[in-house]
Amino acid sequence: MAKHHVVLFFFVYLVLSSIICYMCDAIENGDETDKVYIVYMGSLPKDASYSPTSHHFSMLQQVVYGNDVENRLVQSYKRSFNGFSAILNDQQREKLAGMKGVVSVFPSQEYHLQTTRSWDFLGLPQSIKRGKTVESDLVIGIIDTGIWPESQSFNDKGLGPIPKKWRGLCAGGGNFSCNNKIIGARWYPGSVDARDHFGHGTHVASIVGGRRINGVGYHGLAKGTIRGGVPSSRIAVYKVCNPNCRDDNILAAFDDAIADGVDIINLSLANVNAVEILKDPLAIGSFHAMEKGILTVQGAGNNGPNPSTISSVAPWLFSVAATTIDRQFIDKLILGNGKTFIGKSINIVPSNGTKFPIVVCSAMTCHGNYTSPEKCRCIDKKLVKGKIVLSVDATGGYLAYQHGAIGSIINFTYDRSFITHRPSLDLNSEDFDRVQSYTYSTKYPVAEILKSDVVQDTTAPKVASFSSRGPNPIVPEIMKPDIGAPGVNILAAYSPNGPSSDDAIFNAYEKYIIASGTSMACPHVAGVAAYVKSFHPDWSPAAIKSAIMTTTKPVNGTYNDMLGEFAYGSGNINPQQALHPGLIYDITKQDYMQMLCNFGYNDTKVEQISGEKSSCHKASNRYLVKDINYPALVILVRRPHKRFSGKIHRTVTNVGSPNSTYTATIIPIPKIKIKVVPKLLSFKSLHEKQSFVVIVTGGANSNQTMFSSSLVWSDGTHNVKSPIIIKRLS
Ligand SMILES: *[C@@H]1O[C@H](CO)[C@@H](O)[C@H](O)[C@H]1NC(C)=O
Ligand SMILES: *[C@@H]1O[C@H](CO)[C@@H](O)[C@H](O)[C@H]1NC(C)=O
Ligand SMILES: *[C@@H]1O[C@H](CO)[C@@H](O)[C@H](O)[C@H]1NC(C)=O
Ligand SMILES: *[C@@H]1O[C@H](CO)[C@@H](O)[C@H](O)[C@H]1NC(C)=O
Ligand SMILES: *[C@@H]1O[C@H](CO)[C@@H](O)[C@H](O)[C@H]1NC(C)=O
Ligand SMILES: *[C@@H]1O[C@H](CO)[C@@H](O)[C@H](O)[C@H]1NC(C)=O
Ligand SMILES: *[C@@H]1O[C@H](CO)[C@@H](O)[C@H](O)[C@H]1NC(C)=O
Ligand SMILES: *[C@@H]1O[C@H](CO)[C@@H](O)[C@H](O)[C@H]1NC(C)=O
Ligand SMILES: *[C@@H]1O[C@H](CO)[C@@H](O)[C@H](O)[C@H]1NC(C)=O
Repeated sequence: MAKHHVVLFFFVYLVLSSIICYMCDAIENGDETDKVYIVYMGSLPKDASYSPTSHHFSMLQQVVYGNDVENRLVQSYKRSFNGFSAILNDQQREKLAGMKGVVSVFPSQEYHLQTTRSWDFLGLPQSIKRGKTVESDLVIGIIDTGIWPESQSFNDKGLGPIPKKWRGLCAGGGNFSCNNKIIGARWYPGSVDARDHFGHGTHVASIVGGRRINGVGYHGLAKGTIRGGVPSSRIAVYKVCNPNCRDDNILAAFDDAIADGVDIINLSLANVNAVEILKDPLAIGSFHAMEKGILTVQGAGNNGPNPSTISSVAPWLFSVAATTIDRQFIDKLILGNGKTFIGKSINIVPSNGTKFPIVVCSAMTCHGNYTSPEKCRCIDKKLVKGKIVLSVDATGGYLAYQHGAIGSIINFTYDRSFITHRPSLDLNSEDFDRVQSYTYSTKYPVAEILKSDVVQDTTAPKVASFSSRGPNPIVPEIMKPDIGAPGVNILAAYSPNGPSSDDAIFNAYEKYIIASGTSMACPHVAGVAAYVKSFHPDWSPAAIKSAIMTTTKPVNGTYNDMLGEFAYGSGNINPQQALHPGLIYDITKQDYMQMLCNFGYNDTKVEQISGEKSSCHKASNRYLVKDINYPALVILVRRPHKRFSGKIHRTVTNVGSPNSTYTATIIPIPKIKIKVVPKLLSFKSLHEKQSFVVIVTGGANSNQTMFSSSLVWSDGTHNVKSPIIIKRLS
């Protein structure tokens, strides 16, 4: 499969996918024989005399003949874990893969990139109690397209000096300067500085940690106060995308961020396909972050709504689905016959009352030929100029714009609203058909499209159709995604150099913009994780994740309801409750190592990755991958249409009241029996641990592929909720 280039999801990817891919192919005809490969070597040896760079150099010398080594080595990873990236051919790659100390060798891929009403909707109002001193010591690492440092959202008014623990640098290049808000900046090959020319990194950074700014809106829409989840936190920027994100850069950024001393890493990037854990740079980088107590939050990806489209699969990653908020952007279409329809878009052009002629065209009828006006009505200037085109696909609308159309009506119901500087909207298919009938039934069909309005959406939160879905394609016992958070139509800060509308023609200096994607959902969770950490600085990454996952609010359905939790995880984030989970499901580095053993990696590999003596050989059959202490339970049923039973072990730690008794409740499901043993857990002190078993037995004769229930432990004050998913493998 070809690598993908030049795609900023939230602007153009879905709307214009065919056009963008068309361009990708053109870019791809390069020399493909020598590629950048990542040679991953696990933990750094503890031996103080070990020099990673000279080791990497000598390894390369053994496979690359001549004096070419220097040009072949791309980057050395040497601060937080061991490895390097280098330009290799197939033979050289194979030789390196067989060398001592090498865990895996895999090609460096490129990644797609994937206000603030959302924080109020989530129940984190401005007046909320904050652990301010601790919050202002938190450093959030942003691995993305860089940042626009002059944005008002990153002013440092009232912030104290840089936290003492910070070991990073401000090496932003060019005229980039840091302050007490943006305290670190680094950039990697493919860029010339850490400045954001695309807007994505600036947008995510302001969602997670932007300062409070009054009176911000988008061309008069959605006006209010904009702010991040943890406005007092510090930001460290690692620019790996320009605009595509290279694996070898991502690993280098992890290597630096961990050593620099960030608290939370927020990754708005997603791979297109899930890959094996030890060949996934995001999984590798975040494993070493986890070892150092750093939680990595990642967007689930924008490849939904089909099952198993998620690429964020490792259990130590916090994988976030995108949900809607209760604010929706709509606009009105008025036809020549007076009929009015409601469609979706963020359209900032006021109408002057003129009705424009409508013509029908579609890219589907172009038969792949976007250069021939005979084959493609959408590009027929005489036909479309000055008109509104009625197109079943967005690509048709886009082509028509380039040839003088004034607006478009698209047959597309999508949960996000696209930004446009023209009279354009999306209609649902019934309404589209009605407008099409009108267009064919009259000699001079005309229409007027009004400027957008903001309305309340009572169906929120729902999972966005674009949000990538589980089940987990690599480790099916681990539920993915983990959680849902707002990712549709989110207003946040922006790079003035970034494209400013989805129709990609009109460009204006924009300091704030509305965007959608799991990239926008991810920083909401990173913000909440930082918020929880500011109150509980001693909690492990898994404990913070458990607190957030077990205190969610329900999600109100999905685009593909069959997938349930595999669309929204354990529910929608609920920041205030996440501070008081009562019980947590903690997971240590040793637990993760055991899971890797149970997953099938042998002693040698697990020792290399973790830098610790492993005990794979002692792995008892009683504990399997499913028994890792995850705050969600997945039972796989391997033989369909037969009776089955399954057992899962879990251990909870008391972080609520010292003396407390929790009772288990199971949401019943027909034909399946779920038992919890014991049903009662009594705690005498804080940090005390108690274990239990969940036993599931089910009948034959059901062809349903997925059942879901939940387990709630309650002491009357805290309700600790975990999904239980029974998944038949077909
Ligand atoms: C820094 O350079 C960028 C272009 O690279 C420019 O847009 C910006 O205005 C400059 N900022 C300052 C403070 O000079
Ligand atoms: C956090 O990750 C999300 C999704 O992976 C990304 O969109 C966002 O930019 C990141 N935010 C920060 C502050 O790094
Ligand atoms: C309204 O706008 C259109 C296109 O911008 C223009 O052609 C037309 O003359 C305007 N009509 C009025 C009444 O201003
Ligand atoms: C598309 O149409 C143009 C003009 O008719 C023609 O020159 C070209 O070869 C066609 N391309 C394809 C791929 O059919
Ligand atoms: C509009 O889209 C729907 C499905 O999204 C499809 O069923 C319908 O046929 C489309 N309408 C037209 C006129 O193509
Ligand atoms: C769920 O959506 C329905 C409409 O589809 C709405 O009536 C209901 O209030 C929503 N429920 C919640 C809990 O938001
Ligand atoms: C683990 O597997 C690798 C090959 O993948 C092999 O070289 C090594 O000897 C194995 N280690 C053990 C302890 O079996
Ligand atoms: C917990 O209960 C025990 C006896 O039931 C009591 O001795 C102890 O003081 C209680 N501890 C707290 C913190 O309330
Ligand atoms: C299972 O599938 C069969 C046919 O494939 C159907 O007749 C039956 O109703 C289904 N049973 C259930 C419980 O859905």
